[in-house]
Amino acid sequence: MADQKLNGEVFFPKEDTINNAIVKDWNQFKLKAEENYIGFWEEEAENLHWFKRWDKVLDDSEKPFYKWFTGAKTNISFNCLDVHVKTARRNKLALIWEGEKGEFEAMSYYRLHQETCRFANILKSMGVVKGDRVTIYMGRIPEIAIAMLACARIGAIHSVVYGGFSVESLHERIEDSQSKVLIVADGAYQRGKIVPLKEIADEALKRAGGIEHVIVVKRTGQDINMEFGRDMWYHELRSLPIANNDCVLEIMDAEDPLFILYTSGTTGKPKAILHTHGGYQVGVYSTLKYVFDLKDEDRYWCAADPGWITGHSYIVYGPLLNGATSFMYEGAPNYPYPNRYWQMIEKYGINILYTSPTAIRGLMRFGDAWVNRHDLSSLRILGSVGEPINPEAWKWYYKTVGKGKCPIMDTWWQTETGMFMITPTPTVPLKPGSGTKAFPGLQFDILDENGDKVADNEEGYLVIKNPWPAMIRTLWGDPERYVQQYWSKYPGYYLTGDSAKRDEDGYFWVIGRVDDVIKVSGYRLGTAEIESALVSHKAVAEAAAIGLPHEIKGNAIYAYVILRAGFEQSDELFEELRQHVGHEVGPIAKPEQIKFVNSLPKTRSGKIMRRVLKAKELGLDPGNLSTLEE
Ligand code: WT7
Repeated sequence: MADQKLNGEVFFPKEDTINNAIVKDWNQFKLKAEENYIGFWEEEAENLHWFKRWDKVLDDSEKPFYKWFTGAKTNISFNCLDVHVKTARRNKLALIWEGEKGEFEAMSYYRLHQETCRFANILKSMGVVKGDRVTIYMGRIPEIAIAMLACARIGAIHSVVYGGFSVESLHERIEDSQSKVLIVADGAYQRGKIVPLKEIADEALKRAGGIEHVIVVKRTGQDINMEFGRDMWYHELRSLPIANNDCVLEIMDAEDPLFILYTSGTTGKPKAILHTHGGYQVGVYSTLKYVFDLKDEDRYWCAADPGWITGHSYIVYGPLLNGATSFMYEGAPNYPYPNRYWQMIEKYGINILYTSPTAIRGLMRFGDAWVNRHDLSSLRILGSVGEPINPEAWKWYYKTVGKGKCPIMDTWWQTETGMFMITPTPTVPLKPGSGTKAFPGLQFDILDENGDKVADNEEGYLVIKNPWPAMIRTLWGDPERYVQQYWSKYPGYYLTGDSAKRDEDGYFWVIGRVDDVIKVSGYRLGTAEIESALVSHKAVAEAAAIGLPHEIKGNAIYAYVILRAGFEQSDELFEELRQHVGHEVGPIAKPEQIKFVNSLPKTRSGKIMRRVLKAKELGLDPGNLSTLEE
């Protein structure tokens, strides 16, 4: 492939990478998927277990409500655990975990299967049945994976809420999902401090009804409130006879719901993205295998949080479906020192590291010495996800961390896509900052406002032309919004919400969100959530939030507020409002800056024109102002 003529700065795969790769010839791989797209996914599905085979691979009779592997019976938890327990893999480590304070846990497939069955039996004893929703609110500890797998085993729909979210975000997600059970940790360690998860949950539960049982996992051990009759300790339940390690598994239809995961949308409340057992497992199994070239002997580390889609697909389900060894670390990359990641790569012999541009930029600023103190020779492949990676950070990652021998898989995808979509595989020539090309078989386009294709190197709306197995099925409880949000701007196309360019070599360059979603440190937040948190404070009459470029975080939140009569702007009020947003949404949503203003730019119909605020801050042309009220 090294003889390919490509424009710009290109990094070609090393010989070792090519010799090792599952996909040696990407072009051939792509051709095969294009010639028979359905056959490609069908063949991938053959690698997993089905209690009953599908009648049809893709059913598009009710577009855009696509169905995959219809008629098939399966269970993703079975494919993650039971399948391996019957082979020599039963003794292989499924999960290696290190806590922030250095605690260590390792679980074989055999043990993880047992723990999952025990947890599933506890849920069953509480009356949880197929189709019930269970909210999970924890830090990065093994129990989060066990709880997810346990739900899947009995057909319950899990809704994981990221442990960095706070009272109102949790409340809203519990209430919208109508969860019966909440699984929560007493707390989580974050930079030596305790995040009081149970306390936050107690406050959220005062606002939300519906939760009958709360299972509390002990992690931090501080005193917490346990409400009699509602709250129970996991370790106590686990030692009861009902929590035995044999749990009958629910046989699921391929299209039965597996989980909902809330994500921020353009307006109003967060959207519940629905994924199902059958197609999702095929999509994440196969993309992880090919993109990270996953081998049986690998130790793979996805440093994301299980509370986001990256963790769902590529910490929990993807690795386990592949029978891989997945490493999970509880804490932050730079606590107590900026060598935490490098230390663990050396200690555990990690072969594949998958992290975010924010983490890379954050570690880069501490200099090379922190990295060079450690033996990182086990690393084979690197990955990046969550936001565009700037070429400078890419090159540092490539040279200093990967020593110039590890290709970087810059994977573009979304909560909605469930799996990698625009991504290289290890032998694809790389251009820093580009996710390269679509995963074989997927078709993307870049359109202008009128729905016409833009020319090479021109920016436009990134859309997807054909369905894929791990795709969102609907917005849970709101199918109309699903159609409206994703399929109405350009009928027949899935709208990603991102803008992008494609260069003359066919490489994609994702620029960022074009809707009211802000990516802060790779975390997805809606302007609406931040604004409604601000407005829920007694001093605030109106609020607007925008994202502005930030060196480390990618974007930082800037807010504008109009105060109610009787309130004066002050440094104290600024701090109080920041804390208030932190308390309601979560620490990641705290505005970097809040400006007190007398008016906000609005359309005649009263919508805040955030792009005008943004243009003003950046000293740019605000564009078409014909709809501006004044
Ligand atoms: C949005 C989706 C996919 C898992 C984590 C985020 C941005 C994601 C990349 C990338 C440029 C990226 C997009 C996308 N994004 N990966 N490699 N390059 N941008 O999932 O929270 O649903 O966010 O993240 O803007 O639309 P998410």
